[in-house]
Amino acid sequence: MRIRNILPASLALALVLAAVAAPVSPAAAAGGGGHVEDVSFSFEGPFGVFDKAQLQRGLQVYNEVCSACHGLKFVAFRTLGDETGPGYDEEQVKAFAAMYEVPDPEGEPGDTRPGKPFDHFPANTSAGAPDLSLMAKARAGFHGPAGLGINQIVKGMGGPEYIYSLLIGYTGEEKTVAGSTLYENHAFPGGWISMAPPLEDGRVEYADGTPATKEQMAKDVAAFLMWAAEPKMVERKQAGARNFAFVVVLAVLLYLTNKKLWSKVKKGGGVA
Ligand code: HEC
Repeated sequence: MRIRNILPASLALALVLAAVAAPVSPAAAAGGGGHVEDVSFSFEGPFGVFDKAQLQRGLQVYNEVCSACHGLKFVAFRTLGDETGPGYDEEQVKAFAAMYEVPDPEGEPGDTRPGKPFDHFPANTSAGAPDLSLMAKARAGFHGPAGLGINQIVKGMGGPEYIYSLLIGYTGEEKTVAGSTLYENHAFPGGWISMAPPLEDGRVEYADGTPATKEQMAKDVAAFLMWAAEPKMVERKQAGARNFAFVVVLAVLLYLTNKKLWSKVKKGGGVA
């Protein structure tokens, strides 16, 4: 009787699992690409924090290289002063914002003015490139065998690893399809991307003197984009650790209370 009920149920479960697992592996389906390297970032793990100097270098890479094609329209300049983020002081944020021209709502349509801390980074659609504000979260990916996300859980691999792998994943091969050039890339699902390789060694000169290798710049800008997509990650993790400690203490107290309340009954003494 029982077995008869369990069999169809487990069959249904297996079918559902297969259906869920199959479409989450786009790279495997497309034939090429999809290779993501594991990188260890300072913000991984339950107590991970952003590395200020790295975020500042990543901002420099975004600013000097990526912003030519990609916007960052959900990120406000003032957040560059966040304590757990790049941590610039007020004057630096003001000066940085003023380097950008933003639309001026008080002027004629099309007028611009220098940016203020409360403005956002400009959008940029000129090259047909996607906005990078949420990219590190959007490409969290499903890495690991059959795209099940095993590497995400075990190694903490996600969007920043994908962005890093994308930036260093060019093979040097290119081809022209219907008039546009595609570049072969190990990480990009499908294996061919229309973004020309944006980085080469020495592309920027870091203010803090760190050697600007391609890998270093890729890692720094990936970390910066992770911060841009989730600026409150550190606060969230700290709150999580606090709540966890609270729940542990509460559980111990409840256990002891329970023991005390029932101790008389268990000894056979009856309640009160
Ligand atoms: C010359 C213009 C240009 C520059 C400079 C550039 N990109 Fe791109 N990027 C593009 C275009 C175009 C696409 C869309 C590619 C496609 O879908 O085939 C793209 C796509 C991307 C994607 C999304 C890939 C995906 O999975 O859909 C990421 C991430 C990215 N770029 C990051 C960067 C970073 C980081 C930099 C700076 C280091 C940068 N790009 C510099 C043009 C550019």
